[in-house]
Amino acid sequence: MIHENLLETLGMTPVVRLRKLLPHPQDRIYVKLEGANPSGSIKDRAALYMLEQAEQAGLLRPGATLVESTSGNLGKSLALIGAIKGYRVILVVDPKTPRSVLAYATSLGAELDTVITPDANGSYQTTRLHRVHRLVQEIPGAYTLDQYDNPHNPEAYRLHTAQEIVKDFDRLSALVATVSTGGHLSGLGSALKEHFPALHVQAVDAVGSAAFGYPFTPYRMRGIGLSWRPGNLHPGPIDSLHRVTDTEALSACRVLAAEEGLLLGESGGAAVFSALGYAAANPGEPILAIAPDTGANYLYETYDDQWLRDHGISPDTLCHNGEDLLRHVHHPLHPPAPVDAGPVPASGTSQITTGGQA
Ligand SMILES: Cc1ncc(COP(=O)(O)O)c(C=O)c1O
Repeated sequence: MIHENLLETLGMTPVVRLRKLLPHPQDRIYVKLEGANPSGSIKDRAALYMLEQAEQAGLLRPGATLVESTSGNLGKSLALIGAIKGYRVILVVDPKTPRSVLAYATSLGAELDTVITPDANGSYQTTRLHRVHRLVQEIPGAYTLDQYDNPHNPEAYRLHTAQEIVKDFDRLSALVATVSTGGHLSGLGSALKEHFPALHVQAVDAVGSAAFGYPFTPYRMRGIGLSWRPGNLHPGPIDSLHRVTDTEALSACRVLAAEEGLLLGESGGAAVFSALGYAAANPGEPILAIAPDTGANYLYETYDDQWLRDHGISPDTLCHNGEDLLRHVHHPLHPPAPVDAGPVPASGTSQITTGGQA
């Protein structure tokens, strides 16, 4: 198929059924591989849609500067979009940003601005956002998409990704999706519940994340979780919350790679770990887990034993095979629970100065 540019290849990502890693032989667990998007993650969808909406609203002049805080994937998306559309891109990153992500972004011409000081809770997210706001004030014509509060973030998934899923499935019992800004969970959850009224929506967050109001503590996974409550996390469609630990997600990543040939990012590992638990309690039900990015982003981290040791995770503590992982799935460290997400903040990013996380 011939395309005018790479962005036209966005979407229509494959869904793959797990074949070996199943709590029961009749289980139907499906994984949507968002790493198949052009820059390797789910964020291509939100980034392009938010940007096009800003263009249509006349907020972006040709050659404008995009400034964004990113744990990796939004940065890759913007680097690609900037290269194709002719925008200058400045990415505010931190020492947790994977090496391959930085190399990808700079290869496409993006500039990096690295914050090195974590906030009082040990997170870099609020420090990065403060830096973005400063750069936007200092650089003439600079613009930030504000993925945490921008309603076009969940809208992108509602309008596009959800329609792909509806085409692929006649029936769906559960959607299992991770949270950072809340964009894809909120957009997919609300749209899919309209189509599959009995759908159970299970949110997956990192143990240590404050997105659902728990106190923030540092964790290793990237992409998933946040140190405050984002405005785009809409509690309405969410039925349960599963808080997954680093070792649970990393174990799932490694077993999925070795036994299913699926090389997923850490949040994809967390989503599948959680979906396996849901399947264990609901045999044979069709369950869809969203894998936000490819494990190619983390080859030198998650998939590297030495990196894990250097960062305080002994590879010996991870599950080594499917049997081991499935045993663990029956006894997760934090079993899923009904969610009480509390009131949605009027502006999620405003929480960074008031929410006690900054
Ligand atoms: C790898 C990864 N997983 C999960 C998420 C969470 O997605 P959302 O921001 O839509 O909640 C992100 C967002 O950046 C991500 O990069």
